[in-house]
Amino acid sequence: MTEILVTGGLGYIGSHCCVALMEAGYTPVVVDNLSNSSPTTLDRMQQISGVRPKFHKADVRDGGALDRIFAKHRFAAVIHFGALKAVGESVAKPLDYYDNNVGGTLTLIGAMLRAGLKKMIFSSSATVYGQAATVPIREDFPRSATNPYGRSKLIAEDILEDLSLADGGWRIARLRYFNPVGAHESGLIGENPKGVPNNLLPFICDVAAAHRDHLAIFGGDYSTPDGTGIRDYIHVMDLVEGHLAALRFLNERPGLLTVNLGTGKGISVLEMVRTFERVTGCDIPYRVTGRRPGDVGECWADPTLAHHILGWRAHRTLDDICLDAWRWRSLESTSFL
Ligand code: NAD
Ligand code: WQD
Repeated sequence: MTEILVTGGLGYIGSHCCVALMEAGYTPVVVDNLSNSSPTTLDRMQQISGVRPKFHKADVRDGGALDRIFAKHRFAAVIHFGALKAVGESVAKPLDYYDNNVGGTLTLIGAMLRAGLKKMIFSSSATVYGQAATVPIREDFPRSATNPYGRSKLIAEDILEDLSLADGGWRIARLRYFNPVGAHESGLIGENPKGVPNNLLPFICDVAAAHRDHLAIFGGDYSTPDGTGIRDYIHVMDLVEGHLAALRFLNERPGLLTVNLGTGKGISVLEMVRTFERVTGCDIPYRVTGRRPGDVGECWADPTLAHHILGWRAHRTLDDICLDAWRWRSLESTSFL
């Protein structure tokens, strides 16, 4: 029984990661403060895996609570998802983002040191590349921040780098996610944004479910083949499988690993809309509006390093992504509304 501490393990990516960990024979132990998740997700994870993950309701900024949790378990590693992630909110409430995302990471590292554990996988983001000058984006591209959320990830990345330089015993993976989308194929867990969705695919699902009458496409005048923005959408199950590969890597080698987790394929907003319509049979009315402030035209990964070092690559298709997102959204509407 290899126990892995998963902070934010009831959230979107964390819950999928726990399912993948259980399938691979690990025992995830979730620490989550429920600020953006619900304990009902534990029931869903149990339905999928046949096992209920252990859960401690706690905040990663609470060092005392973390010490008590570390005393109850023998963790082999920590996967640190627990953070705030809304770009717009981070502009309005920067201190919340530094407190949760930087303060939380520091407090967690402190508890790990007290427990003698030096193996961590950290959720970073393509946001650390800021407005990259070219695509595809490689790990050695310059980093910058365009908002407090992005800066909180940059700072946490730097802290982890300094830590690994100061103490060669640490094994740290900084995984830079591109655009995580889709849901577990069972339709039992997925992304559940509160209020108006900010991200493209949850918004498309809202339109398909007739909760909104149309999608606003933010900009039709980018220098891309169809004029709409291009992103690297990665299926959440591919993404979490990248974490398992990183865990295996860290078991073999100490040091600092920094890799992109993306597909290496850019998809435009219109391609996403058309694929969703084709595979689900739903109509997605849309209007092309002005650009969203802060958006870039193109952002997609060069995932070569992850393949080379981890032997991992994303293999699910855009059809899978749309079908799985819609299955989750359809089941969620019928079972919870
Ligand atoms: P999410 O909000 O669905 O999950 C985060 C979870 O962490 C939630 O369950 C929340 O309740 C919990 N949490 C937040 N602050 C906490 C704290 N202080 N203590 C304990 N628990 C806390 O978000 P997600 O999409 O699953 O993202 C997971 C991680 O991946 C985050 O670190 C995020 O920044 C990063 N990331 C996400 C994306 C994306 O588009 N979803 C992209 C790149 C990076
Ligand atoms: C994708 C494309 C929009 C909504 C964000 C964060 C990033 C990372 C992932 C955490 C863009 C267009 C969107 C809509 C649209 N998160 N769009 N209409 O902005 O690439 O990345 O999530 O680390 O930090 O910034 O994702 O899904 O919001 O947008 O036209 O209603 O869809 O302009 O081209 P984004 P997104």
